[in-house]
Amino acid sequence: MGKTEKNLACSNDVVSSVCETHWEMAAKTRMGKYLTAVEASFITKAVDFSLTSFVLDVGAESGRISFLALNNKTTVVVSIDIDCGSLKRFKQRTKQAYIVAADARNLPFRNEVFDATFMIEVLDYIPELDVALNECNRTLKHNSTCVLSFGNRASFKAKLKGLKGKSYLHSYKRVMQDLSKTDFLICAKLGYNWLPFGRTSQNGIIPLLAWLERAVGLRRLCKYSPWVMFHVAKPIDKQSS
Ligand SMILES: C[S@@+](CC[C@H](N)C(=O)[O-])C[C@H]1O[C@@H](n2cnc3c(N)ncnc32)[C@H](O)[C@@H]1O
Repeated sequence: MGKTEKNLACSNDVVSSVCETHWEMAAKTRMGKYLTAVEASFITKAVDFSLTSFVLDVGAESGRISFLALNNKTTVVVSIDIDCGSLKRFKQRTKQAYIVAADARNLPFRNEVFDATFMIEVLDYIPELDVALNECNRTLKHNSTCVLSFGNRASFKAKLKGLKGKSYLHSYKRVMQDLSKTDFLICAKLGYNWLPFGRTSQNGIIPLLAWLERAVGLRRLCKYSPWVMFHVAKPIDKQSS
């Protein structure tokens, strides 16, 4: 067992009853349902689950995104997170996923094992963006897919958050630069979360504003968008082709 794995090993293998997590509750709100719908739609366009054998979900929490891959019975899903409480809750929700306590910056896996990797709403907690992207790239097979999302520090919403003393970690420009340095190719991108509400809002006009966001083309303005999703690919290995 590597150093990081050992440090992160969750002490109790017996899964006692664990309450619903904050993020599970957030996903049930109107805002949460809107965000999950946008993210799930983008992911299912990016990844053909009938062709993916091994999927890695980085920062899986209690499994919201892992469940998308688990719905495909032939896909093996490995879900990692640094938070043992969330992983215990996830274990309670499914026996299907391989759930591992690990850090995105030091993945305990060999090179080139996964067909697809998800990093959804997790890079916002990792200042070392380049390290996490390098680890993701290292463990992905060539010609394979990564889908990631992040809050855009350069957006107007981030500036408003900044006035309250909080903001996002990464800007659209920095993520583009680090993706390029890591040798990822950008296949698709999408901007979202333009709605003027927090993560757990139940405001009744959310469905209407979500429709407008799409209808007026805000999802194409990635550079200025509050949240951004990228579908990127690790290129084919030139040496072996
Ligand atoms: C907002 S939650 C997102 C969970 C899930 N990806 C989703 O979209 O529903 C962020 C998760 O990232 C995890 N996380 C933060 N830093 C991490 C790191 N360095 N390595 C692995 N997971 C991390 C947190 O513990 C938390 O469970």
